[in-house]
Amino acid sequence: MHAWVLDGGFGTEHLRWTKCEIPVPAAGQILVRLHAVSVNYRDVLIVEGSYNPRLSMPRILGSDGAGEVIAVGPDVDRFRVGDRVIGCFMQKWADGPLTDTAARSTLGADRDGTFAQYVLLEQAGAVPLPEDWDYASAATLPCAALTAWNALISGECRPGKTVLLLGTGGVSIFGLQLAKAMGARVLLLSGQEHKRERAAQLGADATANYHTVPEWDRWVREQTEGQGADIVLEVGGAGTLERSLRAVRRGGYIALIGVLAGRGTIDPMPILMKAVRLQGIFVGSRKMFEDMLVFLQQHRLRPVIDRRFPLPELPAALEAMRRGIHFGKIVLDIIPGVPG
Ligand SMILES: NC(=O)c1ccc[n+]([C@@H]2O[C@H](COP(=O)([O-])OP(=O)(O)OC[C@H]3O[C@@H](n4cnc5c(N)ncnc54)[C@H](OP(=O)(O)O)[C@@H]3O)[C@@H](O)[C@H]2O)c1
Repeated sequence: MHAWVLDGGFGTEHLRWTKCEIPVPAAGQILVRLHAVSVNYRDVLIVEGSYNPRLSMPRILGSDGAGEVIAVGPDVDRFRVGDRVIGCFMQKWADGPLTDTAARSTLGADRDGTFAQYVLLEQAGAVPLPEDWDYASAATLPCAALTAWNALISGECRPGKTVLLLGTGGVSIFGLQLAKAMGARVLLLSGQEHKRERAAQLGADATANYHTVPEWDRWVREQTEGQGADIVLEVGGAGTLERSLRAVRRGGYIALIGVLAGRGTIDPMPILMKAVRLQGIFVGSRKMFEDMLVFLQQHRLRPVIDRRFPLPELPAALEAMRRGIHFGKIVLDIIPGVPG
């Protein structure tokens, strides 16, 4: 098979489309022929070396993918050859709270991932793909969608709540679709005018441009009768957290998700003075994934796929993501038998 392997160092120059052995499933594992995978900002961070500077190499990258089971190891009883499945971001987080074992079982970092023609999954680390879902749509779900879902469920999103979203990448656009379906009001920030329009078409109740409205915390308070947002999906990190703390209402909830606007130090004072609930979110469990799939089906929600590339063009997809020109998700298609 062919796979995108990071080897010998960080940087795109160390990312190679390489011929590898097709793995053989051991007890409790399934071998999946992938049809589509999707890119996350995490993949950009992994390649540049800032996600995990001690990443074990060689490593096949990629956390998200959907395909069909083509072989099963001994003791596999959840899946059969021919089943259509989606891999879970964490191979060892079935349910309950996050554990060390689960956090160290991520595809594309702790173990070989999905930017390949085949991937080995734990049978407990996959979910069945609903019949009416195509592979490309399914491949967008494991990281970005589940993160948004986990954040909104943990923030008790429901009618009457106002949710603030930063940007229009994978997590935020899933956040928009899910929060609207949960009955919440959504405020969304984007640095690009045409993306604000698209977000409004998808149901965002009010949008602002964080370039032209740099004091967007004030804008959020204006939109909420001076109270602030109930829930913030914080994908910016230290670069935006201070302002998010000003934009959230007293006793509100901030899901700490990403680092798009950088890392750094934060002042804890506003967190305690406003009694804000600050919750780190690390994707989600298989049970959360299953619950989310039921919700997506009930509400007939489908992901927003901005653009698609063939898998051999991964570097172009990563560059598009790094430049932030997309809206929603970027998918890579895998044509069976074609190494590219
Ligand atoms: N904790 C977890 O489990 C988890 C899971 C998934 C993702 N993440 C993290 O969450 C972040 C988002 O991931 P993603 O995959 O959704 O990324 P993405 O698709 O690459 O989203 C990028 C978008 O974010 C917006 N953005 C960039 N800088 C911004 C800033 N300073 N302020 C506000 N918005 C900004 C831009 O949207 P506009 O062009 O509209 O401005 C950009 O297009 C990343 O840091 C990622 O590593 C964490």
